[in-house]
Amino acid sequence: MQDIVGVILAAGKYTRMNSAIPKMLHHICGQAIFDYLLTAVRSIGVKRIIVVTGQEGGRVKRALGARIETIRQKNSLGTGNAVLETYPALKRHKGHILVLYADTPLLSEETLRGLCVRHRSNKADCTLLTTYLSNPTGYGRIVRDDRNRIRRVVEEVDAAKFERAIGEVNAGAYCFRVEPLFRALKEIAPVNEKNEYYLTDCIAVLAKQGLRIESVSTNDPSEIIGVNTRRELTLAHKVMKDRILDAHLSNGVTIVDPSTTYIDSQVTIERDTIIYPFTMLEGRVRIGRNCRIGPFCRVRSGTVVGDNVTLGNFVEVAESVIGSDTTVHHHAFLTDCKVPRRVDVGAGTMAQRSLSVGPWISAEAQGLSKEDRR
Ligand code: UD1
Ligand code: CA
Repeated sequence: MQDIVGVILAAGKYTRMNSAIPKMLHHICGQAIFDYLLTAVRSIGVKRIIVVTGQEGGRVKRALGARIETIRQKNSLGTGNAVLETYPALKRHKGHILVLYADTPLLSEETLRGLCVRHRSNKADCTLLTTYLSNPTGYGRIVRDDRNRIRRVVEEVDAAKFERAIGEVNAGAYCFRVEPLFRALKEIAPVNEKNEYYLTDCIAVLAKQGLRIESVSTNDPSEIIGVNTRRELTLAHKVMKDRILDAHLSNGVTIVDPSTTYIDSQVTIERDTIIYPFTMLEGRVRIGRNCRIGPFCRVRSGTVVGDNVTLGNFVEVAESVIGSDTTVHHHAFLTDCKVPRRVDVGAGTMAQRSLSVGPWISAEAQGLSKEDRR
């Protein structure tokens, strides 16, 4: 994917979230929203990624880290204007750009790869990701002609009644050939309900020029959920949670009651461990083989649990290392502890930076880096 540059739009006003925190810094299953897309884009082999930031640019830049290239959109004038801000950085780029919206964190690696591969193999000027929704409210609709060719994308607020009835929607993921895209971006105008420069208006410009517009569909509509409101944040959380639980089930972990079990995206669990109901595993946690966790157990970030460990009911463990074959009995609270192998931690134990008797099982020996322990 060397000839594809990833452009992730993360500016805008995010008024619908009713929050002082930029939309993409909200968390889903223990990770910031933007992290999911960045991981997916990197894993399909896109090397250069540019994130367009907005009014809270400094805050977003700090969260992204120094390795990610950012460009500031001076004013929130719409998605078309946000992409146009990358022109100085990309005008010499001869290939394609993959434009994504930072608020659609559930797009999978397979879907993004499929989009880029199809774009290339069709020699398209633009390829859009679409899906069919029984309730398309809030999304741009795909308008096709009688030969099934895409003519334009119409935003819901600007759509006529018959256009609102269209079930095929714009997921907000596109591959464009750079040169026609920037030409089209210079032609669009903010003549719509929101007075914004819509990236989606480029589609009509390209179609009128007779350029090749293709689409790829995803059969999983949950992938395209856009996080615009708190309700959609909850929905995205639910979808991600189910994906995570499903991956653990496939990996040989028993989850007795998935509906009351919360496992963050960076948790690893080895085979034949059983997670009992009302259990939360948060942040960076590693759990070994054949453990019994819960019910009503909370394991917090920075914890490494060995093999054959039991963490009983109402146990809370944070930033600790629990050696193999150890049992932590009910109502215990351990934080920043190193518990050796084959220890019985009694019911009701409260311990901070202690329980250091016996052979050490250091964080390093367990493969836990300093980063993990933060
Ligand atoms: C957009 C699409 C819509 C699509 C939907 C999918 C447009 C005009 N509409 O609508 O067709 O169905 O996504 O989720 O593109 N942003 C900027 N700068 C801006 C405005 C927005 O960077 O000036 C960023 C936002 O941070 C966000 C993304 O662009 O990540 C999309 O903007 P948003 O306002 O959420 O667009 P939607 O109304 O969801
Ligand atoms: Ca959105």
